[in-house]
Amino acid sequence: MTTSIKGKVAIVGAGNVGATTAFALMNSGTVSEIALIDIDREKAEGEAMDLSHGGAFVEPVDVYVGDYEDCWDADVVVITAGASQKPGESRMELLERNVAIFEDMVPQITERIDPETVLLVVTNPVDILSYVTWDVSNLPHERIIGSGTVLDTARFKQVLSQQCDVAAQNVHAYVIGEHGDSEVPVWSSAHLAGMSFDDYCASCRMECGSDIKDELSEKVAGAAYEIIEKKGATNYAVALATTEIIDAIVRDEDAILTVSTLMQGQHGLDDVYLSLPTVVNRRGVRQVLEYDLTDQEHEQLHASAETLQERLDELDI
Ligand code: 2OP
Repeated sequence: MTTSIKGKVAIVGAGNVGATTAFALMNSGTVSEIALIDIDREKAEGEAMDLSHGGAFVEPVDVYVGDYEDCWDADVVVITAGASQKPGESRMELLERNVAIFEDMVPQITERIDPETVLLVVTNPVDILSYVTWDVSNLPHERIIGSGTVLDTARFKQVLSQQCDVAAQNVHAYVIGEHGDSEVPVWSSAHLAGMSFDDYCASCRMECGSDIKDELSEKVAGAAYEIIEKKGATNYAVALATTEIIDAIVRDEDAILTVSTLMQGQHGLDDVYLSLPTVVNRRGVRQVLEYDLTDQEHEQLHASAETLQERLDELDI
């Protein structure tokens, strides 16, 4: 179900990802207010000025610099603040720096927000920081979502679309698990036009054996490293992925997205945040979907969860 209600979003962190998300959101037409919040207020002011000068080209939207107080009536508070990856650095290597930032920042947000507000964590390592946000905030887990593998799923669709020479929108496939090195592309349920990926390839007389699948999986998992090596950061696709999640919340879409959420027995996993296809609406998480995996994918998912669990244990939370 969709509604025409326009929402308000507060973005905490006006760096590359936060500012580009604000730009993507302006273009989506979903919100009428965007508050940009950053400890570097001048940077946030510059971004807000630049964005608001584009107001004549999009649907009416008020983009302004805010403080934590501006989170109180937001439909979604997006957290993009924190250190970001340097070339060659993994998402996990950001852990200590960003956990310290989150432990200070999250209470300042959550003590001010409306009971209906959904918190969307984007900062890496996103699965761990979503868990930390949930733990520190004491809010219902349904309202704390991580952007998870929504972006990896989009990258997977993109590489499959190139391989099969069809539009990415017509490729259906998911990446699940950690948004990071242990992520799991689910080949067994990838499909196009109602055909499995393997059947589609056979019908086109294409060679799509395990070597090709491994190569494409590596392309997806290694995408961020490659981009960061070349331009120092990723911002456009992650901003579009974040906007897709915000749209699902503000428009009450019941959209299925591979966001990161608290596991409560799905595939035998508990007490860890990771991505599975999830129904997302105005309340945040409506339902985490469990679907058929091969034995190998099931094992890979468990290995991914273990990687995350080990890091959570080290944090002692
Ligand atoms: C990305 O995958 C770095 O997590 C960010 O683009």
